[in-house]
Amino acid sequence: MDIHFNGIMFVVIAAMLAGCEQPPPPEEPYQSVTDVAGLMRQVLEPASDVLWDSAGSIMTEAGEERLAPTTDEGWLVVQQQATVVAESGNTLMMPTYAPDQGDWVEFSKGLVAAGKVAMEAAANQDEEALFQAGARLYSVCVACHQLYWTNAPQAAE
Ligand code: HEC
Repeated sequence: MDIHFNGIMFVVIAAMLAGCEQPPPPEEPYQSVTDVAGLMRQVLEPASDVLWDSAGSIMTEAGEERLAPTTDEGWLVVQQQATVVAESGNTLMMPTYAPDQGDWVEFSKGLVAAGKVAMEAAANQDEEALFQAGARLYSVCVACHQLYWTNAPQAAE
């Protein structure tokens, strides 16, 4: 009877002690496939270029050429790439990319915000709003690069 009682106590205490142990941090389900430079080159830059090439105008030999899409399909492409820009901001906040939780996260949020404005502009086929979103986006790129891309060979040139 005594032995039986002690056995139960042992199990209870062991269970309590186990409960106090720090569980190992859960393994993240995602796996980053590139680094910050790769994300810039492969994802953010090409998507941003589509936005910048879809509003305003350029001068050609034939005169002024408007850049805004003229078809629903064209606007859909802009909307898709604006979504890529916005989600790139979220991706940059992941611990595998973010060097800190301060300014870096603020700039990344800026990408999300500018991307969302561009998504809405494209959905509304609103060229002026897209142009404004593109300008806002550009200022986010520059601001983050000024702080975090200081050692780039390009920056020294
Ligand atoms: C949250 C910060 C941040 C934002 C926002 C950001 N960048 Fe970057 N970018 C970096 C950093 C850091 C590097 C340098 C990466 C390295 O060399 O390791 C970089 C490098 C680059 C490069 C060079 C990549 C290479 O080949 O080495 C390009 C192109 C680029 N960014 C484009 C953009 C564009 C376009 C935007 C805006 C739409 C933007 N970036 C916004 C942080 C940012």
